[in-house]
Amino acid sequence: MNERRFTEILLAWYDRYGRSDLPWRQTDDPYRIWVSEIILQQTRVKQGTDYYLRFMERFPCVKALAEATEDEVLRLWQGLGYYSRARNLHAAAKAIAKRGTFPTTYDEVRALRGVGDYTAAAICSFAYGMPHAVVDGNVYRVIARYFGVDCPIDTTAGKKLFAEMARRLLDESRPAACNSAIMDFGALVCTPSSPVCRQCPLSGTCVAWAAQSVGRLPVKSKRTPVTRRYIAYYLLHDRNRLLLRRRSGPDIWRGLYEPPAAEYDHPPTEAEMLDSLHTIAPSSQVLLTDTPIRMQHDLTHRRLILAFYKVHCTTLPHLVDFLSVEICDLNDYALPKPILQAAQKFGFLT
Ligand code: ADE
Repeated sequence: MNERRFTEILLAWYDRYGRSDLPWRQTDDPYRIWVSEIILQQTRVKQGTDYYLRFMERFPCVKALAEATEDEVLRLWQGLGYYSRARNLHAAAKAIAKRGTFPTTYDEVRALRGVGDYTAAAICSFAYGMPHAVVDGNVYRVIARYFGVDCPIDTTAGKKLFAEMARRLLDESRPAACNSAIMDFGALVCTPSSPVCRQCPLSGTCVAWAAQSVGRLPVKSKRTPVTRRYIAYYLLHDRNRLLLRRRSGPDIWRGLYEPPAAEYDHPPTEAEMLDSLHTIAPSSQVLLTDTPIRMQHDLTHRRLILAFYKVHCTTLPHLVDFLSVEICDLNDYALPKPILQAAQKFGFLT
């Protein structure tokens, strides 16, 4: 397969169909590009765009972000998940503000908290026009299919091979366009499921299309193990207040707020969850008003199986570490997405 031809077709496709209107493509400000790439690391463009615009409005420059409190940054991030991204972004903003300017070399950019090879290549190509090829899920998929590469992408050899191929495929006179092109092509044409091969400008020379192996590529060597966690949350409230604590410890939800909870190593019965409630708050003082909400929330290696109870208390119990928060101020507290959804369904937030 001709590598130069691949890149030419991809760039011609991008010039015609690429998403050049995405807000982070209207700028070469490294701060803006950095924030967009951190948001987009684990988030789809559609959802990420709103968050990006809100972030830019509130924190138009690195100094504004550096001077914010972690609570405020997490609140703006609320609902995006993978909160370590927000904590790292904030920590790196402080480091950049301290040194005075945004780093300008690949190695300095790569050294920022939360910036890996992919994000460093994205920032350096988009902001500075440097010839660094991005390698993300889109790149693995497009290259694996077009060139028929079945080396597993989650092995050291696979990572090395794909990075080398991406490097060779980069048109060094248009690195930013090349990187945007392969991302957009992977998002719009060569999608994970149901790719639109019949309208694909590369299908004529695509190895996987000819071999009918599009659905089998790219290859992964191992399945990611998924562990289940069973948690019951109790939204203990009186007329005006609700109990929440700020999570501490090395944890994906560190810095976010949560109500009292009980965790089980097995699917809990209703009786067990009510027992836990009565361990937390005396039974004479509590009243269950609404039907409990059940929810499943999937993280990368974990499936959370959650139950939420809305519990009216005549007197809120005193629980170590918990704050009694005015319900009308609930918007000021960053909540993990499933807890936010339950709070909304129970009518604590509109
Ligand atoms: N995904 C990650 N980075 C992106 C970008 N710059 N444009 C579109 N999708 C992306």
